Amino acid sequence: MSRIVHVVGTGTIGEPLIGLLCHYKDKLGIDEVTFNKRTPLYTDRSKVKNLLERGAYLSTSPEAMSGFEKLGMQPSFETRGAIERSAVVIDCTPSGAGLANKEEYYKSATSVKGFVAQGSEFGFGKMYARGINDEALIPEEDRFLHVVSCNTHNLAAIIKTMALGNGTMPDNLISADFVCMRRANDVSQDAGFAPSPRVGRHKDEKFGTHHARDAYHLFRTLNLEYGGLFSSAVKLNSQYMHTLRFRLKVKEPTTMEQLLTRVKENDRLARTYKKSSNQVFSFGRDHGFFGRILNQTVIPHEALSIVDGTDITGFCFTPQDGNSLLSSVASSCWLLDPDTYEEKLQVLKPWFFEEV
Ligand SMILES: NC(=O)c1ccc[n+]([C@@H]2O[C@H](COP(=O)([O-])OP(=O)(O)OC[C@H]3O[C@@H](n4cnc5c(N)ncnc54)[C@H](OP(=O)(O)O)[C@@H]3O)[C@@H](O)[C@H]2O)c1
Repeated sequence: MSRIVHVVGTGTIGEPLIGLLCHYKDKLGIDEVTFNKRTPLYTDRSKVKNLLERGAYLSTSPEAMSGFEKLGMQPSFETRGAIERSAVVIDCTPSGAGLANKEEYYKSATSVKGFVAQGSEFGFGKMYARGINDEALIPEEDRFLHVVSCNTHNLAAIIKTMALGNGTMPDNLISADFVCMRRANDVSQDAGFAPSPRVGRHKDEKFGTHHARDAYHLFRTLNLEYGGLFSSAVKLNSQYMHTLRFRLKVKEPTTMEQLLTRVKENDRLARTYKKSSNQVFSFGRDHGFFGRILNQTVIPHEALSIVDGTDITGFCFTPQDGNSLLSSVASSCWLLDPDTYEEKLQVLKPWFFEEV
């Protein structure tokens, strides 16, 4: 079977993902990268042409074929055919569309090894975040994977590193409270900018927002149950990246030195002396892969506080969409070959920074 990876959607997540897969195709053990775009638009032509030049192939619906051709973009496949000839499909469509695509296309495509959906698609499949629950993935059994949202990655990384001692103290967490300070929209987006901070509703009765709920379910895949998670969200009038404020209550007293050692031991976390998200974002722009660093989170360690040894408070920055991209690549490589994916992912190591 050809090792074809197909990406559905060319938006904020899809576009950089297609580029990254094309760039590292050979080293990741991928034969071909294809992608689906629904709408032929002059405004998107430059990005489609660039992705074609980088070696990817375009698919679209039968109805949209001539529209793309008229604008000088040549599709190679139609939507369903492109899915069915793939080894792995990564769905990068917005809220609800991934679940609908699962019903319409994915469930019947039985020769495809597996499907990956993004943050908004609660219920799509087993939740996954690279470095958090890799051991929960079951070869041959798990065909539908749900990469959790970028902020959920961040919550889970903070819990696992700081409260669970990088997984060595699974019973150590008592409770965790988070405030997700979200950037209004991505630098690639026109819509959705917020003129001032805008608070979100606590729609989930137990967990507040979906971030803590999803982190709860993510740890459940490891048979760990942390009922004391709670999150709130506020949109800020910034475009740079999300900032997270956390407060963890743990059983075993800890010191700042121990905490910083745990952060250092986890190479997916970065430390920083910088205090603002624009400084961290700017580092990514200059030193990341096409502007992105792939760390799970960046911790301004001078802003950490420990009270009575057991109350840990601090802030961290979610590096744009880097963690979702990493987990999307990792889960795809795992679906292609669970025995070699760890080794293949090492090609992305230059984009993990110990210090930002
Ligand atoms: N934005 C972020 O920073 C971020 C970070 C982490 C996770 N996520 C998650 O990633 C997912 C995608 O978000 P996004 O921000 O990348 O969205 P986006 O920028 O709005 O892009 C969505 C893309 O999906 C396509 N699309 C929409 N409906 C579709 C459908 N029914 N079938 C096929 N294609 C469809 C659109 O294609 P056309 O142009 O062809 O219409 C567009 O290219 C969401 O689950 C989100 O929660 C986003």
